[in-house]
Parts: sequence; structure tokens; C-alpha cells
Amino acid sequence: MGSAELRKKEFTMSKLNHACAVAVIAGAALVAAIPSQGAEVNVGGVNGEAARGKQLYRRYCVGCHGAKGDGQGDNAPYMDPRPRDFTTGSFKCRSTPTGTLPLDNDLFVTIGRGIFASSMPSWKALTAQERADLLAYVKDFSPRWNVEKPQHPLEIPPEPPGTAESVTRGGKIYERMECWKCHGKDGSGNGPSATTLTDNKDRAIIPYDFTTGTRFKCGRTNEELYKIFMTGLDGTPMPSFRDNLPPDEAWDLVHYLRTLQARVKQ
Ligand code: HEC
Ligand code: HEC
Repeated sequence: MGSAELRKKEFTMSKLNHACAVAVIAGAALVAAIPSQGAEVNVGGVNGEAARGKQLYRRYCVGCHGAKGDGQGDNAPYMDPRPRDFTTGSFKCRSTPTGTLPLDNDLFVTIGRGIFASSMPSWKALTAQERADLLAYVKDFSPRWNVEKPQHPLEIPPEPPGTAESVTRGGKIYERMECWKCHGKDGSGNGPSATTLTDNKDRAIIPYDFTTGTRFKCGRTNEELYKIFMTGLDGTPMPSFRDNLPPDEAWDLVHYLRTLQARVKQ
């Protein structure tokens, strides 16, 4: 990790500690109760219960995501991007098709990992049981889970070798699929459409800058990168390419995108 990245991390952490303290105070002051539907989930080898999750949510999440789960916690106005509105059932990090509900496991992994380059912390310090309880409660905020089922997750075939030929092919795919229109020819996020983009809450959003490092909101491995552009980031202009790219081309694209990151800014 470079010293600039380290400084950024420290800065984020101190902001976070502050936000968490505020979240705890806000949680204690809360009296209005949301009726819980008592949802249960089975994930990470444990059964999560919404009733227990609610207590944890009041303590750890309410300051950002709000008592109604609508993303309007007391700290929300100071954040960019804003905390997720759970009532819509729309999530960025999924292995399921665009527009559909994520798997329980997708959300469980996200809660544990946190969302890089945002105020969403990692909750790895909580036990798997606590994270599963939280997840059950988070799902209670959207009625979509009562009527829809998550669809078939994306299958990711084993990664072929990242040869120079694969990188060259990937570069042509980046061109053909018009990733550059948003992410820029050099991947630094400065494409011609970059300044015109908004998210599903009508807030300005910028394309990812590949030269800032090797981590993404939805993971850091090659498989996670594959999944990101194949399923898209719902609620943002980042589309899903699952219907346009066969697996071998998707892997070529992964190999090309990694070369953009090699030009990391100092
Ligand atoms: C300090 C503020 C903050 C706290 C505290 C916080 N979050 Fe978040 N959370 C965010 C932000 C901001 C986002 C949106 C990030 C983005 O869109 O890139 C987010 C997004 C999410 C998402 C959406 C992931 C996706 O794929 O779209 C989930 C799920 C989530 N948070 C769960 C939780 C849970 C559970 C807690 C409590 C244990 C919690 N958050 C506490 C700020 C916070
Ligand atoms: C219409 C504009 C647009 C196009 C076209 C587009 N993207 Fe994106 N992309 C975005 C935006 C906006 C984000 C940032 C989303 C966010 O911050 O939540 C993003 C984020 C990403 C991320 C980072 C996701 C994360 O988890 O942090 C990757 C990887 C990515 N895009 C790859 C691609 C690839 C590969 C293509 C072409 C096949 C492509 N994008 C085409 C707008 C676009």
C-alpha cells in the first residue's frame, strides 16, 4: 500500500469511528419500533433471525441507513455515495441478473467486506451469527422478498491464462462494448459520458477510475471483477454485459482491465 493510500485509509477510518459513535447514540435515542416480519435466513452456516438483527441494526446501522431502512439516517446527508435505501431491494454487488434480488450470500459477503471507496464499513468484527441476523432484518425492509425469488447466479468458468493475446483481445472488447464512453480510453474514468451520469436517486455519479488501485466496491479478485461487469451495479449507470459477452471474451476483458490498473497513479 502506498503512503497516499494509507493516509486515505486513516482518514476514512477516523471518519468512520465518528460515524459509528453517532450511529450508536442515534440508535439509543430511537423509540419508534418497526414491526418485524420475523424473516429468517440461512447463510454462512448459521440461521439468521430478524428479531435479533433489529437490535444490532439499531446499534450499528441506523445512523446511516435510517430507522426505516430508507438510507436517510442522521449521517446520510454528509455521504457520497449515500447509504443504500433497503426499501427498493436494489443492490450493487450481486451474482444474480440485473434488476433482480441478490442471493443472501451476496449480501452476507458485502456486509462482511464493506464497500471500498464509500462510508460503508466492514462488519467482519461481528460474528457470522450477528451478520446473518442483520441480513434477515435488512431484507424485512423490502416487500420484494415476499413476492420475488433470487434468480440463477452467474456461472464463472475457470480463468484461462492471461496471455498477451488475451490482453489484446480484451482491449478490442473494451472498445467494442464502449466501456471507454464512461471509463475513458485510458481507464481513468474520464470518458465523454462521464460527467452526465446519475444514479437511481438522481444524484451525480462518476465511473470507476481503474488507475486508482486494484480494489472494487464488489471485491478485488479476478472472479469478482468478472462478476461485476457481467451482472452490473444496479441503481447506477454501470450496465450488465452478461447477454453480450461469452465467457472467453469476459475473461479477455478481465485481463485487459488489469493492465489499466498497472498504470496506478502515485
Ligand atoms: C457510516 C455509514 C454506514 C454504516 C454505519 C453502515 N453503512 Fe451500509 N452502506 C453505507 C453506504 C454509504 C452504502 C452505499 C455504498 C455505495 O453505494 O457505494 C452502504 C451500502 C450497504 C449495503 C448495500 C450493498 C450493495 O450491494 O448494494 C448493505 C447491504 C449495507 N450497507 C448494510 C449495512 C449494515 C447491515 C450495516 C450495519 C451493520 C451498515 N450497512 C452500516 C454506509 C453505512
Ligand atoms: C454508461 C456508463 C458506463 C459504461 C458504458 C460502463 N460503465 Fe463501468 N461503471 C460505470 C459507473 C458509473 C460506475 C461506478 C458505479 C458506482 O460507483 O457505484 C462503474 C463501475 C465499474 C467498475 C467498478 C465496480 C466496483 O465494484 O467498484 C468496473 C469494474 C466497471 N465499471 C467495468 C466496466 C466495463 C468492463 C465496461 C464495459 C464492458 C463498463 N464498465 C461500461 C459506468 C459505466
